[in-house]
Amino acid sequence: MEFKHQPVLVKEVLKYIPRKSNGIFVDGTLGGGGHSKALLCESKALSRKSKVIGIDRDLEAIFAAKKNLAEFESQITFIHDNYSNIPKILKSQGIDKVDFILLDLGVSSYQLDNPKRGFTFQTDSPLDMRMNQKDEQSAADIVNYYSEKDLADIFYDYGGERNSRKIAKMIVEGRKEKKISTTAELSEIVEMSFPTNYKGKYKINLATRVFQALRIETNNELNILKEFIPEAAKLLAGDGRLAIISFHSGEDRIVKHTFRKLEEENKEQYKVLTKKPTVAGDEELKTNPRSRSAKLRVLKKL
Ligand SMILES: C[S@@+](CC[C@H](N)C(=O)[O-])C[C@H]1O[C@@H](n2cnc3c(N)ncnc32)[C@H](O)[C@@H]1O
Repeated sequence: MEFKHQPVLVKEVLKYIPRKSNGIFVDGTLGGGGHSKALLCESKALSRKSKVIGIDRDLEAIFAAKKNLAEFESQITFIHDNYSNIPKILKSQGIDKVDFILLDLGVSSYQLDNPKRGFTFQTDSPLDMRMNQKDEQSAADIVNYYSEKDLADIFYDYGGERNSRKIAKMIVEGRKEKKISTTAELSEIVEMSFPTNYKGKYKINLATRVFQALRIETNNELNILKEFIPEAAKLLAGDGRLAIISFHSGEDRIVKHTFRKLEEENKEQYKVLTKKPTVAGDEELKTNPRSRSAKLRVLKKL
């Protein structure tokens, strides 16, 4: 399957890169390399000395990015890992400080559209959702082994699903009869948890919030983000920036509060450059539906 993903807020991200001739950029969520390519093209105007360390926890993304960025081979290092390991990765490369760290959170369109990966209710596939297919726990493990209360909490906290308790109850009842192992089986249970007259009232598919919540839990997305931001801030060189694009209110809240705390507690060291998040303009909204919920926030090391 071809790797397709249209990056969001590219122009907006480029506005924040430090104008330096030999910058070191870290792309912690490389995906197909769309943002990294833009960074390298932009910095080419300054010099060919800029370097990118491109990281993704999904091996298929690394393969796609290698292909997409072949012309910049000498300037980019590809690493299959979790962005939470960036401090260790940089140490192993002999790098102390960097000029730009970018996180473009969530999943790529490729991951969503690939029926083998189980991220969506649009196709029937194994209930997987692991970004790194070497991780131990899949979404099916969560659905089949978590307690009813934990499932309800996840659906509510990560998906904002108000019918969370009923859905969790139905899942626990359903799995007593047969293990839930496909996206279609889960969607069916979620749909059955709603009153029959409910369907038309929801603007989105009834399973949307549950699938989002399960993806976040399967990949431990919010905890990783929360712990990473203060560590990333320590890696910035003077005038360096940490730019984070989020797609979910829980993620944006973490970015906003952690940036603000870093600024308040270290006024001489950090400044938040985006008092309000940067969002997509009309043109991008028309051409890239993923941009609708994208929010960019940037922290600068003084
Ligand atoms: C929205 S896509 C990034 C797209 C990319 N900016 C581009 O232009 O193609 C998010 C990517 O981040 C990766 N990812 C998510 N969480 C990660 C983590 N903790 N560590 C490394 N990669 C992660 C996903 O596997 C996915 O490929």
